[in-house]
Amino acid sequence: MLTEVIKINPDNIDEESISHVAKLLTGGELVAIPTETVYGLAANALDKTAVEAIFSAKGRPQDNPLIVHLADKSWLLKYAVDIPDNAYKLIEAFWPGPLTIILKKSLIIPDVVSAGLDTAAFRLPSHPVAKAIIEAVGVPLAAPSANISGSPSPTTAAHVLSDLGGRIAAIVDGGECSVGVESTVVSLCGEIPTVLRPGGVTTEMLREVIGNVVIDAAVLNGLEDDAKATSPGMKYKHYAPKAHVVIINGEFNKIVNMVSAMGEGTTMLCFDGEEALFNLPCVTYGAREDSAEQARRLFDALRRLDDIGAKTVYARCPAKTGMGLAVYNRLLRAAGFEVIEI
Ligand code: TXA
Ligand code: MG
Repeated sequence: MLTEVIKINPDNIDEESISHVAKLLTGGELVAIPTETVYGLAANALDKTAVEAIFSAKGRPQDNPLIVHLADKSWLLKYAVDIPDNAYKLIEAFWPGPLTIILKKSLIIPDVVSAGLDTAAFRLPSHPVAKAIIEAVGVPLAAPSANISGSPSPTTAAHVLSDLGGRIAAIVDGGECSVGVESTVVSLCGEIPTVLRPGGVTTEMLREVIGNVVIDAAVLNGLEDDAKATSPGMKYKHYAPKAHVVIINGEFNKIVNMVSAMGEGTTMLCFDGEEALFNLPCVTYGAREDSAEQARRLFDALRRLDDIGAKTVYARCPAKTGMGLAVYNRLLRAAGFEVIEI
């Protein structure tokens, strides 16, 4: 299959291109689209066959449910049921934006989207191109991140092309994603609102709006093989480059001393400006104090490690609060939860 690349400028949206993309999606094709978080691999969420094709194009496990992307807040009333007050509060505060809310789903949403669960994940993206496309299709789009399952999520159209080129009908190039890590996923289906995946809307921000919010244990700890995941996505290794990644946490001088003794094939994933202090190849992923920049650059940095053929990677540890928690969570998964404290 030849994958068409369609450039759409978010600041000057070409309606003809939007209707072309909408036609592809209405016809059951898969199209990668930009969102403010990462690129998504979209299909008509109400078309069971098209949604099944997402799973095969990505090599995604069948039991990992997809996010349902809406064009307007009002759509939620048709696709979710028993919507609690907290959902309205969060939607008012954070939609459109990088927040996904798990709610009881209505019967219109095919089981393949929710992987058989009676809940579904809903999100209203703020990216103008995503919004225009969903609006033009007129129904929600199911979309996971547009990467091959297990590899780092794509933050540029080039990332998508390298993973899914030849497997999908089209890629809409809307430029670089501004958040850079996937949306925050919060479940409102249990007793207490629970963050299943940290992201651009921080836990601190959620608490300001709805009070008590807990963070699911799987965010910071690997799941035991037989443990039941609250969010099926948490049980899979993720975001992993081909290299063996280890997070290294501790005093900077100690880190320099430790890794300096390492042999060939070792690469440092570090903060901007630290390259000169390591006598190893380095890939940087942002300023040490700037978690938002680290989020924007992390996945590209992980892909770059593959490009330079890194074998073993020691990664500097991000902050664990605010946006930093999202960065730390992705890096932990890329490292298979391997952390060295020195
Ligand atoms: O920013 C994002 O969220 C991007 C863009 C494209 O919107 N999408 C994305 O999708 O990251 P994906 O499929 O890579 O991640 C969705 C996560 C998975 O961890 C999945 O297990 C979880 O959401 N999820 C989906 N439906 C769920 C449900 N009903 N209950 C619990 N977790 C759910
Ligand atoms: Mg994903």
